[in-house]
Amino acid sequence: MGEQQTWTIRSEQPGDAGGIDEMLRRAFDGDNAANLVRILREEGGYDPALSFVACESDDHGRIVGHVLFSPVAIVHGDAPSPAMALGPLGVMPDRQREGIGRALVNAGLDACRTRGLAIVLVLGDPGYYARFGFTPADEARIEAPHPGWGESYQVLELLPGALKETRGRARYPDPWADA
Ligand SMILES: CC(C)(COP(=O)(O)OP(=O)(O)OC[C@H]1O[C@@H](n2cnc3c(N)ncnc32)[C@H](O)[C@@H]1OP(=O)(O)O)[C@@H](O)C(=O)NCCC(=O)NCCS
Repeated sequence: MGEQQTWTIRSEQPGDAGGIDEMLRRAFDGDNAANLVRILREEGGYDPALSFVACESDDHGRIVGHVLFSPVAIVHGDAPSPAMALGPLGVMPDRQREGIGRALVNAGLDACRTRGLAIVLVLGDPGYYARFGFTPADEARIEAPHPGWGESYQVLELLPGALKETRGRARYPDPWADA
């Protein structure tokens, strides 16, 4: 028998911003991820229903993990196709390797699927994201916004056939430039 789970996953609620911010600064050991989420939130750049937190199950409900899914575009010629960007994903250093990251990603992917969102892009370690089914974006004819992203840039098709009909260069909202 494994240890009892001491956290739960839910979507972002008003009042979570401070806890998400603090957790991201700890998880990433710097400000960039926290700043990205804060600016996107301020600019209305994401739907809180697609922003998930992991909270301790005790009375304090401290936020120990977070993942964001926010809109981006895949542009071919002058025709943009919608896609979602996964990230940042962070888990409090003292709570890593408990399955929180996996649960956050799966909650977000389920929510995207439910909304009929077809394509998710991520910049991250393929050793981590392959378990969710992500594959190299360039093999799916999706070009990263920055050539240096290389094999860390990955894609997942949520609706069968979506990638057959989509190709082009991913375009991210401005706040991502500093992330
Ligand atoms: C990456 C991160 C979100 C994983 O969260 P987590 O809650 O520890 O993840 P899970 O418990 O679901 O999965 C842990 C497993 O993933 C593995 N793992 C973690 N990071 C990995 C990586 N970069 N590459 C490959 N495997 C990785 C762990 O070794 C562990 O494997 P095991 O279950 O076989 O022991 C967390 O380590 C983190 O916040 N890191 C710092 C911020 C960061 O780098 N975020 C990712 C940006 S793309």
